Amino acid sequence: MATEQQTTDASAGKGVSGETDTLTVTDNRTGKTYELPITDGTIRGLDLRQIKVKDDEFGMMSYDPAFTNTASCRSSITYIDGDAGILEHRGYSIETLCENSSFLEVAYLLIWGELPTKPQLERWTYDITHHTYVHEDLKHLFEGFRYDAHPMGMLLSGVGALSTFYPDAKQINDPEERYMAAVRLIAKIPTLAAYSYRHNMGFPYVYPDNDLSYAENFLSMVFKKTEPKHVPKAELTKALDVLFILHADHEQNCSTNAVRGVGSSDVDPYSAVAAGVAALYGPLHGGANEAVLRMLRRIDTVDNIPDFLARVKDREEKLMGFGHRVYKNYDPRARIIQGYLDPIFEATEYNPLVEIARELEKQALEDEYFTSRKLYPNVDFYSGIIYEAMGIPTDMFTVIFAIPRTAGWVAQWMEMKEDPEQKIARPRQIYTGSRERDYVQMADREGPEKIVGPPARRPKRPRRGA
Ligand code: SDX
Repeated sequence: MATEQQTTDASAGKGVSGETDTLTVTDNRTGKTYELPITDGTIRGLDLRQIKVKDDEFGMMSYDPAFTNTASCRSSITYIDGDAGILEHRGYSIETLCENSSFLEVAYLLIWGELPTKPQLERWTYDITHHTYVHEDLKHLFEGFRYDAHPMGMLLSGVGALSTFYPDAKQINDPEERYMAAVRLIAKIPTLAAYSYRHNMGFPYVYPDNDLSYAENFLSMVFKKTEPKHVPKAELTKALDVLFILHADHEQNCSTNAVRGVGSSDVDPYSAVAAGVAALYGPLHGGANEAVLRMLRRIDTVDNIPDFLARVKDREEKLMGFGHRVYKNYDPRARIIQGYLDPIFEATEYNPLVEIARELEKQALEDEYFTSRKLYPNVDFYSGIIYEAMGIPTDMFTVIFAIPRTAGWVAQWMEMKEDPEQKIARPRQIYTGSRERDYVQMADREGPEKIVGPPARRPKRPRRGA
């Protein structure tokens, strides 16, 4: 069975039977036959346009809502085999990277294509460490939010606002500007994330501490109080750095597709990454880790699991943290995260929700409804339990996902800008509406008095001066 993702094969052009790699298509409307070249297991959408009934037609298109079977680009950053549960970055397995690497080293690998040498990593780390501050005026932006504003809404605004502080980033073809945008985005996203937490809590903002590592500095900006220096427990820093690695990139997911789509208009990378933050916010994507914790709390006890799963099967609920567009096997990231649950509980405090999560997984994976649909735990199923054990509030979970994913978005954005085949993304459509209608004057408009929108609200009190 073809893997989800066709890797470029040097012997491309000859199929396994030695036949030329082409697809022969017969249009039964005309009896005409077409030979479509097959490259990397795909046909080019544009090759369909020659298939017409009448010569003056636009030609055939493919129709693939939500791009369930459409490759949008060529990429060498991340390889996923959903059936086998394999995830690799530039050819290195996620397991190897979690065991041997650090998040900043993985960020370098994603963006520049190779593991850095010692001097390269030192320079990369120095540059990122020394760009963690944000302009003081950004604090005024955060002060404009309600005390209970969702941190993802604040992060979305903060990242977009960065584009106004670095207008030179519009020179997207300037390698130095691209480098600085990559460094600034990776360096400043934790600061903006921490600001959103501190605003929610009513705490003063904590400035970055250049003595600390990337993960230590984020935890310091979140949790530092009156102590002169906040150095988090090594177990928490290690677990968070691994979680950052696990969330760094995941090929053409919803938010990366948003970054590539918005970035294809040649907008600056800050604005393109802000689009990624917006897409990640959704509960079907990055917002799932937050939704999992709320789901576990609603289930409340192991005894309630059978009833909950019955409601899922009746489609009254979704089993958040389960299922994946690509993985039809266990998400390897979920397996790695489970390995950090016990060390985190030893360093913090035991989170009883893990019992509900583990029993929920067990019962779901014994149920044909889930196994027949190949629904397994994904990266979001256990990650929130670790964040909660660290003392991070639930509505900050997706913000923590956005921090490392910024490195992946930057890598994908750069790859797109360097791809000669890419240009502004502008899909076509199947038009289903009316055509060539005559204008109807107001007096002639009849029909049911259908008022759209909710019933008009009567003002609770007379307007001032009424
Ligand atoms: C992430 O793409 C990425 O790589 C994303 C990500 C990344 O790193 O960037 O991995 C991060 O977003 C992980 C996914 C987090 N989201 C969730 O955990 C939310 C819950 N999951 C689902 O909403 C769903 O599984 C998706 C959105 C993740 C995938 O949806 P698909 O591929 O569109 O699958 P589908 O909706 O067509 O489902 C196929 C079947 C359906 O049943 P039938 O209608 O055919 O009978 O499976 C069912 C669905 O109803 N189903 C679920 C389910 N997920 C799918 N049923 C119950 N609970 C679920 N979670």
